[in-house]
Amino acid sequence: MSTSNTHPSLKDTNLFKPIKVGSVTLQNRLAFAPTTRFRNTEDFVATNLQKQYYEDRAENNGGLLITEATFISPQAGLYPNGPMIHTERQAKAWKEIVDGVHSKGTSIAMQLWHLGRAASPDLLKKHGLPLLGASADYIDESSKQAAIKAGNELRPFTIPEIKTMVQEYVEAAKKAINIAGFDFVEIHSAHMYTLAQFIDIASNHRTDEYGGSIENRNRLTLEVVDALIDAVGAEKVGIRISPYVTWQGGSGADSELMHPIAQYAYLYSELERRGREGKRLAYVHSVEARVAVGIDVQDGPQYSSEWVRQIWKGVLIRAEL
Ligand SMILES: Cc1cc2nc3c(=O)[nH]c(=O)nc-3n(C[C@H](O)[C@H](O)[C@H](O)COP(=O)(O)O)c2cc1C
Repeated sequence: MSTSNTHPSLKDTNLFKPIKVGSVTLQNRLAFAPTTRFRNTEDFVATNLQKQYYEDRAENNGGLLITEATFISPQAGLYPNGPMIHTERQAKAWKEIVDGVHSKGTSIAMQLWHLGRAASPDLLKKHGLPLLGASADYIDESSKQAAIKAGNELRPFTIPEIKTMVQEYVEAAKKAINIAGFDFVEIHSAHMYTLAQFIDIASNHRTDEYGGSIENRNRLTLEVVDALIDAVGAEKVGIRISPYVTWQGGSGADSELMHPIAQYAYLYSELERRGREGKRLAYVHSVEARVAVGIDVQDGPQYSSEWVRQIWKGVLIRAEL
């Protein structure tokens, strides 16, 4: 039997108070985390099953849904039945989902995905596409063997390929906002996919302007940020970042190479600088340090993400991995 309760009632917290995010006012501060489901057609077009899935989550909600990570192009990744926003047909199929979510008074962001070295070498090869990463560093031995077996060995993006990728982000973002009608696009710069592969010292051994220093390793993510700000407006752009990721070869908190705060503070700082210059992103979605791929990591001050708040002053979505 409890005689005293020092915890505030949820109704006394900010959780159910409206918040302005970009140019949208959400009715509460609940965000549904992006969740890959592989329910698209074979040619990567969204289905009625997804429409139902997102509408179910939009019902009596009023907050923000973030879609499953969605390929910006075939080169970005070809996992079977994954989502893509590259063709007009793909964008129009998403519009039906967005309209359904909006009809229930809920907002929705599309998460934009590029796998880099995490892609399937075999599937890329079948489409005549190379396996590309920041460097020719595999995630692990089994991913190396898979690439050799497929005859599609990992190699670094060339500079023209980087420029093409940035343009593919732009085209995908424009389709998401202008055709599908999403409230936001979320740049997936987390979980050791392409953008994080460039940021992390463990997966980037480039010697050009995209490698070496912290500034150089963050250059690609910031180029994508700036390109999307120009293409659709800062108030329609969010970004997901996971400074402590160890999954898929991320350095993590115990790295001997570089601490996550050193590696990532610059990125938050550059986002904040853009905000102060009138180009504030709608939100930053930051994966917390205290959980790694569903497993609680050891508790302690080294796993605190509070420093993020000291740098980024805009809307912050906090999530676990
Ligand atoms: C099945 C599954 C799919 C996921 N897909 C994505 C994804 O597409 N993009 C992403 O950034 N995170 C993805 N995540 C991570 C989640 O967004 C989230 O960070 C994680 O589930 C922890 O939140 P929770 O404790 O509320 O489950 C996925 C997680 C799961 C379990």
